[in-house]
Amino acid sequence: MGLSDIEQELQAKADFFEDILKKEFLPEEKGCARTVIEAMNYSLLAGGKRLRPVMMYESYGLFGSREDAFTVYPFMVAMEMIHTYSLVHDDLPAMDNDDYRRGRKTTHVVYGPGMATLAGDGLLNLAYETAVLGAIKGKKLSPYDGEETTDRYLAALRILTKKAGIYGMVGGQCADICAENSHEPDTDKEKEILSYIDENKTGALIESSLMIGALLGGADFGAVSKMEKIGSDIGIAFQIQDDILDIEGNMSELGKPTGSDIRNEKSTYVSLYGMDEAKEKVYSLTQEAITLLDEFDGDSSFLKRLFEYLIYRKK
Ligand code: IPE
Ligand code: IPE
Ligand code: MG
Ligand code: MG
Ligand code: MG
Repeated sequence: MGLSDIEQELQAKADFFEDILKKEFLPEEKGCARTVIEAMNYSLLAGGKRLRPVMMYESYGLFGSREDAFTVYPFMVAMEMIHTYSLVHDDLPAMDNDDYRRGRKTTHVVYGPGMATLAGDGLLNLAYETAVLGAIKGKKLSPYDGEETTDRYLAALRILTKKAGIYGMVGGQCADICAENSHEPDTDKEKEILSYIDENKTGALIESSLMIGALLGGADFGAVSKMEKIGSDIGIAFQIQDDILDIEGNMSELGKPTGSDIRNEKSTYVSLYGMDEAKEKVYSLTQEAITLLDEFDGDSSFLKRLFEYLIYRKK
């Protein structure tokens, strides 16, 4: 079956991102650190939908001129490096213990768990180095009306670092592991924890992508905060859909194994609310995000179509 229009558009934008990544930002595989760099590039170049950098670019375009979008390139690359590191670590035997990712053997299967751990560490640090360098070399931006700094690059770095760590993705992954095999007698408490897990392990990086794009594109604090809410809705919907696909999906399309959540006794939206409610929630969260996006004057048509597409994605 051929690709739909939105799939083709997304593919073109992902290809555009990969060109930038390969031409300007990949570390060279040489020297004594060569093995870890190979492992980093192995996971970075394994494909993937590149949704977070694409979302960041589109959010930039909603507020700024696409002609100077190079401002946001280092941050797009940094975001994909952080996301990729989170996947390399998430697949480790000590975490979800999965052998396939993005249609290939996982990094630890090819390079061993020690090198995969280091590849994750290397990607996270290179992400920050890349974003900081982007901030140093970037064009001058207008002052920001945020609470902590008027410097847009510093504000973007603040969001990037915070949302990836214990107040974001790492915090969510912590709660995800703690909830494994949990036989929490209080269902309300379990649901509260699940909401924290989804918002943080997955929502945080999507929030951060949309917020940083807007911020560097010239958005004010109010608009950046609205982007955070949109990112939260889409991020939670994305994780619920991921949990649905872990049951109903197909490995050759997904590029990763199904059944991982049941094997690991994970707490997911499907396990706590059932499949029908999970599907309804993906739909309603997405509609809420699209309504919020409509409040902006700029052209958000691609983002809206992307969000709609993600409700029914198969990979
Ligand atoms: C997978 O993210 C991990 C989750 C947060 C659910 P993606 O589905 O965006 O993975 P890639 O980047 O396309 O491989
Ligand atoms: C992981 O959620 C989200 C991350 C922060 C990596 P999952 O464990 O469900 O992601 P997959 O299904 O392995 O991609
Ligand atoms: Mg996991
Ligand atoms: Mg996993
Ligand atoms: Mg999953």
